[in-house]
Amino acid sequence: MKVFITRDIPAVAYKLLKQNNIEFQVFKKDTAIPRKVLLKKIKEIDGLISLLTEKIDKEVIDSMPSCKIIANYAVGYNNIDVKYAKKKGIVVTNTPDVLTDSTAELTIGLVLNCCRRLYEAEKLLRNGKYKGWKPKLLLGTELKGKTVGIIGAGRIGSAVASRLKSFGTKIIYSDSKPNKSLEKNVSAKKRSLNFLLRNSDIISIHIPLSEATYHFLNKKRLSLIKNSSILINTSRGEIIDESYLIWMLKNNKLKSAGLDVFENEPIINKEFLNLKNVIILPHIGSATIEARSAMAELAAKNVIAVLKKRKPITPV
Ligand code: DGY
Repeated sequence: MKVFITRDIPAVAYKLLKQNNIEFQVFKKDTAIPRKVLLKKIKEIDGLISLLTEKIDKEVIDSMPSCKIIANYAVGYNNIDVKYAKKKGIVVTNTPDVLTDSTAELTIGLVLNCCRRLYEAEKLLRNGKYKGWKPKLLLGTELKGKTVGIIGAGRIGSAVASRLKSFGTKIIYSDSKPNKSLEKNVSAKKRSLNFLLRNSDIISIHIPLSEATYHFLNKKRLSLIKNSSILINTSRGEIIDESYLIWMLKNNKLKSAGLDVFENEPIINKEFLNLKNVIILPHIGSATIEARSAMAELAAKNVIAVLKKRKPITPV
Protein backbone atom coordinates (compact mmCIF):
# COMPACT_ATOMS: atom_id res chain seq x y z
CA MET A 1 0.00 0.00 0.00
CA LYS A 2 1.42 3.32 -1.07
CA VAL A 3 0.65 6.76 0.29
CA PHE A 4 1.81 10.09 -1.05
CA ILE A 5 2.15 13.09 1.28
CA THR A 6 2.31 16.43 -0.51
CA ARG A 7 4.47 18.23 2.08
CA ASP A 8 6.62 17.45 5.08
CA ILE A 9 4.28 17.19 8.08
CA PRO A 10 4.99 16.30 11.75
CA ALA A 11 6.78 12.97 12.11
CA VAL A 12 4.03 11.34 14.14
CA ALA A 13 2.25 10.63 10.83
CA TYR A 14 5.29 8.83 9.43
CA LYS A 15 5.67 6.78 12.60
CA LEU A 16 2.07 5.61 12.48
CA LEU A 17 2.24 4.71 8.78
CA LYS A 18 5.46 2.75 9.36
CA GLN A 19 3.97 0.89 12.33
CA ASN A 20 1.14 -0.17 10.04
CA ASN A 21 3.47 -1.27 7.24
CA ILE A 22 2.25 1.40 4.89
CA GLU A 23 4.79 2.61 2.39
CA PHE A 24 4.85 6.37 1.89
CA GLN A 25 6.63 9.09 0.02
CA VAL A 26 6.81 12.74 1.04
CA PHE A 27 7.33 15.82 -1.12
CA LYS A 28 9.97 17.34 1.12
CA LYS A 29 10.78 20.66 -0.54
CA ASP A 30 9.73 23.77 1.35
CA THR A 31 7.40 24.93 -1.40
CA ALA A 32 3.96 23.83 -2.48
CA ILE A 33 4.24 20.82 -4.74
CA PRO A 34 4.16 21.80 -8.43
CA ARG A 35 1.03 20.46 -10.07
CA LYS A 36 3.04 18.50 -12.68
CA VAL A 37 5.00 16.71 -9.95
CA LEU A 38 1.83 15.93 -8.04
CA LEU A 39 0.16 14.43 -11.10
CA LYS A 40 3.23 12.26 -11.72
CA LYS A 41 3.61 11.06 -8.14
CA ILE A 42 0.05 9.90 -7.54
CA LYS A 43 -0.47 7.49 -10.43
CA GLU A 44 -0.24 4.31 -8.35
CA ILE A 45 -1.08 5.43 -4.85
CA ASP A 46 -3.66 3.97 -2.49
CA GLY A 47 -3.91 7.05 -0.32
CA LEU A 48 -3.09 10.75 -0.45
CA ILE A 49 -2.40 13.18 2.39
CA SER A 50 -2.99 16.61 0.91
CA LEU A 51 -2.78 20.20 2.09
CA LEU A 52 -5.13 23.11 1.55
CA THR A 53 -2.58 24.50 -0.92
CA GLU A 54 -3.29 21.72 -3.44
CA LYS A 55 -6.30 21.79 -5.68
CA ILE A 56 -7.59 18.23 -5.68
CA ASP A 57 -9.90 18.55 -8.68
CA LYS A 58 -11.21 16.13 -11.29
CA GLU A 59 -7.87 15.96 -13.11
CA VAL A 60 -5.99 15.01 -9.94
CA ILE A 61 -8.66 12.53 -8.89
CA ASP A 62 -8.65 10.90 -12.33
CA SER A 63 -4.87 10.61 -12.13
CA MET A 64 -4.97 8.30 -9.12
CA PRO A 65 -7.26 5.43 -10.14
CA SER A 66 -6.25 3.16 -7.25
CA CYS A 67 -6.61 5.83 -4.53
CA LYS A 68 -9.03 5.00 -1.75
CA ILE A 69 -8.60 7.96 0.57
CA ILE A 70 -7.75 11.65 0.39
CA ALA A 71 -6.88 12.77 3.91
CA ASN A 72 -6.77 16.56 3.97
CA TYR A 73 -4.34 18.00 6.49
CA ALA A 74 -6.82 20.78 7.40
CA VAL A 75 -10.30 21.16 8.76
CA GLY A 76 -11.38 23.06 5.64
CA TYR A 77 -11.69 21.00 2.47
CA ASN A 78 -12.67 23.61 -0.11
CA ASN A 79 -9.54 22.59 -2.04
CA ILE A 80 -11.07 19.18 -2.82
CA ASP A 81 -13.82 18.26 -5.26
CA VAL A 82 -15.48 16.09 -2.62
CA LYS A 83 -18.48 15.26 -4.78
CA TYR A 84 -16.31 13.90 -7.58
CA ALA A 85 -14.06 12.00 -5.17
CA LYS A 86 -17.09 10.32 -3.64
CA LYS A 87 -18.40 9.46 -7.11
CA LYS A 88 -15.09 7.73 -7.75
CA GLY A 89 -15.42 5.80 -4.48
CA ILE A 90 -12.70 7.77 -2.69
CA VAL A 91 -13.17 8.62 0.98
CA VAL A 92 -12.32 12.22 1.91
CA THR A 93 -11.35 13.09 5.47
CA ASN A 94 -10.34 16.30 7.26
CA THR A 95 -8.88 17.21 10.67
CA PRO A 96 -11.63 18.80 12.77
CA ASP A 97 -11.49 19.41 16.55
CA VAL A 98 -7.73 19.09 16.95
CA LEU A 99 -7.10 22.65 15.72
CA THR A 100 -10.08 24.31 17.37
CA ASP A 101 -8.19 25.67 20.40
CA SER A 102 -5.27 26.83 18.34
CA THR A 103 -7.45 28.72 15.85
CA ALA A 104 -9.67 30.14 18.59
CA GLU A 105 -6.62 31.39 20.50
CA LEU A 106 -5.24 33.10 17.41
CA THR A 107 -8.62 34.71 16.85
CA ILE A 108 -8.51 36.13 20.38
CA GLY A 109 -5.03 37.43 19.62
CA LEU A 110 -6.37 39.29 16.59
CA VAL A 111 -9.31 40.68 18.57
CA LEU A 112 -7.02 42.01 21.31
CA ASN A 113 -4.61 43.33 18.73
CA CYS A 114 -7.34 45.28 16.99
CA CYS A 115 -8.92 46.56 20.23
CA ARG A 116 -5.61 47.74 21.70
CA ARG A 117 -3.85 48.65 18.44
CA LEU A 118 -0.87 46.47 19.35
CA TYR A 119 0.48 46.35 15.82
CA GLU A 120 0.48 50.13 15.47
CA ALA A 121 2.03 50.50 18.91
CA GLU A 122 4.79 48.02 18.18
CA LYS A 123 5.55 49.69 14.86
CA LEU A 124 5.71 53.13 16.46
CA LEU A 125 8.24 51.92 18.96
CA ARG A 126 10.38 50.08 16.42
CA ASN A 127 10.38 53.14 14.18
CA GLY A 128 11.83 55.23 16.99
CA LYS A 129 8.70 57.35 17.25
CA TYR A 130 7.99 56.82 20.95
CA LYS A 131 8.70 60.14 22.62
CA GLY A 132 7.28 59.34 26.06
CA TRP A 133 3.96 58.57 27.76
CA LYS A 134 1.02 60.64 26.52
CA PRO A 135 -2.58 60.73 27.77
CA LYS A 136 -3.95 60.13 24.30
CA LEU A 137 -1.29 57.90 22.78
CA LEU A 138 -2.83 54.97 20.88
CA LEU A 139 -6.14 54.85 22.67
CA GLY A 140 -7.93 51.59 22.09
CA THR A 141 -11.20 50.09 23.26
CA GLU A 142 -12.03 47.63 26.01
CA LEU A 143 -13.79 44.37 25.35
CA LYS A 144 -15.89 44.53 28.49
CA GLY A 145 -19.50 45.31 27.72
CA LYS A 146 -19.06 45.02 23.96
CA THR A 147 -21.23 42.90 21.66
CA VAL A 148 -19.43 40.12 19.83
CA GLY A 149 -21.08 38.72 16.71
CA ILE A 150 -20.03 35.21 15.74
CA ILE A 151 -20.83 34.23 12.16
CA GLY A 152 -20.96 30.44 12.19
CA ALA A 153 -21.35 28.87 15.61
CA GLY A 154 -19.61 25.58 14.92
CA ARG A 155 -16.60 24.27 16.82
CA ILE A 156 -14.24 27.20 16.27
CA GLY A 157 -16.95 29.87 16.45
CA SER A 158 -18.16 28.45 19.77
CA ALA A 159 -14.62 28.23 21.16
CA VAL A 160 -14.03 31.87 20.24
CA ALA A 161 -17.36 32.87 21.81
CA SER A 162 -16.64 31.18 25.12
CA ARG A 163 -13.20 32.75 25.35
CA LEU A 164 -14.52 36.21 24.55
CA LYS A 165 -17.34 35.79 27.06
CA SER A 166 -14.75 35.71 29.82
CA PHE A 167 -13.79 39.28 28.90
CA GLY A 168 -17.31 40.41 29.85
CA THR A 169 -18.75 40.62 26.35
CA LYS A 170 -22.27 39.90 25.17
CA ILE A 171 -22.40 37.16 22.53
CA ILE A 172 -24.76 37.02 19.57
CA TYR A 173 -24.42 34.58 16.69
CA SER A 174 -25.84 33.78 13.31
CA ASP A 175 -26.07 30.28 11.94
CA SER A 176 -28.49 28.18 9.94
CA LYS A 177 -29.40 26.24 13.07
CA PRO A 178 -29.46 27.07 16.78
CA ASN A 179 -26.53 26.09 18.96
CA LYS A 180 -28.23 25.25 22.24
CA SER A 181 -25.05 24.54 24.19
CA LEU A 182 -23.60 27.91 23.18
CA GLU A 183 -26.83 29.57 24.27
CA LYS A 184 -26.66 27.74 27.59
CA ASN A 185 -22.93 28.14 28.26
CA VAL A 186 -22.39 31.78 27.35
CA SER A 187 -25.98 33.09 27.16
CA ALA A 188 -25.48 33.61 23.43
CA LYS A 189 -28.46 34.83 21.44
CA LYS A 190 -29.14 33.70 17.89
CA ARG A 191 -29.81 36.66 15.61
CA SER A 192 -30.26 37.23 11.89
CA LEU A 193 -27.07 37.95 9.97
CA ASN A 194 -28.20 41.50 9.21
CA PHE A 195 -28.96 42.17 12.88
CA LEU A 196 -25.55 40.80 13.84
CA LEU A 197 -23.75 42.94 11.27
CA ARG A 198 -25.59 46.09 12.35
CA ASN A 199 -25.18 45.57 16.09
CA SER A 200 -21.85 43.90 16.79
CA ASP A 201 -18.77 45.77 17.99
CA ILE A 202 -16.58 42.82 17.08
CA ILE A 203 -17.48 40.41 14.28
CA SER A 204 -15.67 37.10 13.87
CA ILE A 205 -16.16 34.80 10.87
CA HIS A 206 -16.18 31.02 11.31
CA ILE A 207 -17.96 29.51 8.33
CA PRO A 208 -16.49 27.09 5.81
CA LEU A 209 -15.84 28.17 2.24
CA SER A 210 -18.10 26.66 -0.40
CA GLU A 211 -19.80 27.90 -3.56
CA ALA A 212 -22.58 29.18 -1.33
CA THR A 213 -20.30 31.16 0.98
CA TYR A 214 -18.02 32.76 -1.63
CA HIS A 215 -18.24 36.52 -0.90
CA PHE A 216 -20.77 35.76 1.83
CA LEU A 217 -19.81 39.15 3.21
CA ASN A 218 -20.43 41.08 0.02
CA LYS A 219 -20.65 44.84 -0.37
CA LYS A 220 -24.29 44.93 0.69
CA ARG A 221 -23.67 43.00 3.90
CA LEU A 222 -20.36 44.67 4.73
CA SER A 223 -22.11 48.05 4.43
CA LEU A 224 -24.31 47.15 7.38
CA ILE A 225 -21.34 47.06 9.77
CA LYS A 226 -20.85 50.06 12.09
CA ASN A 227 -17.89 52.36 11.41
CA SER A 228 -16.66 51.67 14.94
CA SER A 229 -16.60 47.87 14.57
CA ILE A 230 -13.78 45.39 14.25
CA LEU A 231 -13.88 42.52 11.74
CA ILE A 232 -11.88 39.34 12.24
CA ASN A 233 -11.41 36.55 9.71
CA THR A 234 -9.60 33.30 10.50
CA SER A 235 -11.71 31.09 8.20
CA ARG A 236 -11.14 31.61 4.46
CA GLY A 237 -10.34 34.83 2.60
CA GLU A 238 -12.83 34.26 -0.19
CA ILE A 239 -15.70 34.64 2.26
CA ILE A 240 -15.21 38.43 2.25
CA ASP A 241 -15.29 40.72 -0.79
CA GLU A 242 -11.72 41.84 -0.16
CA SER A 243 -11.67 44.88 -2.42
CA TYR A 244 -14.70 46.30 -0.68
CA LEU A 245 -13.16 45.54 2.71
CA ILE A 246 -10.06 47.50 1.67
CA TRP A 247 -12.25 50.40 0.57
CA MET A 248 -13.98 50.35 3.97
CA LEU A 249 -10.68 50.34 5.85
CA LYS A 250 -9.33 53.19 3.73
CA ASN A 251 -12.44 55.27 4.22
CA ASN A 252 -12.88 54.62 7.95
CA LYS A 253 -16.07 52.64 7.40
CA LEU A 254 -14.64 50.06 9.76
CA LYS A 255 -12.49 50.63 12.80
CA SER A 256 -10.06 47.84 11.98
CA ALA A 257 -9.69 44.29 10.73
CA GLY A 258 -7.67 41.30 11.86
CA LEU A 259 -7.05 38.88 8.99
CA ASP A 260 -5.32 35.51 8.92
CA VAL A 261 -6.69 34.57 5.49
CA PHE A 262 -6.92 36.25 2.08
CA GLU A 263 -8.74 35.92 -1.19
CA ASN A 264 -5.73 34.99 -3.35
CA GLU A 265 -3.29 33.35 -0.98
CA PRO A 266 -0.35 33.42 -0.96
CA ILE A 267 -0.67 36.68 -2.90
CA ILE A 268 -1.67 39.48 -0.57
CA ASN A 269 -3.38 42.56 -1.97
CA LYS A 270 -0.67 45.23 -1.69
CA GLU A 271 -3.18 47.79 -0.47
CA PHE A 272 -3.30 45.99 2.89
CA LEU A 273 0.40 46.68 3.40
CA ASN A 274 -0.11 50.43 3.63
CA LEU A 275 -3.14 50.40 5.89
CA LYS A 276 -2.66 51.21 9.56
CA ASN A 277 -5.99 49.78 10.69
CA VAL A 278 -5.45 46.16 9.67
CA ILE A 279 -3.31 43.39 11.06
CA ILE A 280 -2.45 40.70 8.51
CA LEU A 281 -1.09 37.26 9.31
CA PRO A 282 0.10 34.47 6.97
CA HIS A 283 -2.66 31.87 7.63
CA ILE A 284 -1.33 30.63 10.98
CA GLY A 285 -4.61 29.76 12.74
CA SER A 286 -3.62 26.14 13.35
CA ALA A 287 0.11 26.85 13.60
CA THR A 288 0.87 25.46 17.04
CA ILE A 289 3.05 22.45 17.74
CA GLU A 290 0.10 20.80 19.46
CA ALA A 291 -2.43 21.34 16.69
CA ARG A 292 -0.13 20.51 13.78
CA SER A 293 1.03 17.25 15.43
CA ALA A 294 -2.54 16.27 16.19
CA MET A 295 -3.53 17.07 12.59
CA ALA A 296 -0.73 14.84 11.28
CA GLU A 297 -1.77 12.04 13.64
CA LEU A 298 -5.42 12.29 12.65
CA ALA A 299 -4.66 12.40 8.93
CA ALA A 300 -2.46 9.30 9.24
CA LYS A 301 -5.05 7.47 11.34
CA ASN A 302 -7.70 8.20 8.74
CA VAL A 303 -5.46 6.79 6.00
CA ILE A 304 -4.66 3.69 8.05
CA ALA A 305 -8.33 3.10 8.88
CA VAL A 306 -9.45 3.24 5.25
CA LEU A 307 -6.54 1.20 3.91
CA LYS A 308 -7.19 -1.44 6.57
CA LYS A 309 -10.84 -1.46 5.48
CA ARG A 310 -12.12 0.22 8.63
CA LYS A 311 -14.30 3.29 8.93
CA PRO A 312 -12.49 6.63 8.68
CA ILE A 313 -12.43 8.64 11.91
CA THR A 314 -13.36 12.02 10.47
CA PRO A 315 -14.94 11.66 7.03
CA VAL A 316 -16.34 14.81 5.45
C1 DGY B 1 -7.69 24.54 8.10
O1 DGY B 1 -7.41 23.54 8.75
O2 DGY B 1 -8.63 24.57 7.33
C2 DGY B 1 -6.82 25.73 8.32
O3 DGY B 1 -7.12 26.77 7.50
C3 DGY B 1 -5.35 25.39 8.26
O4 DGY B 1 -5.07 24.58 9.33
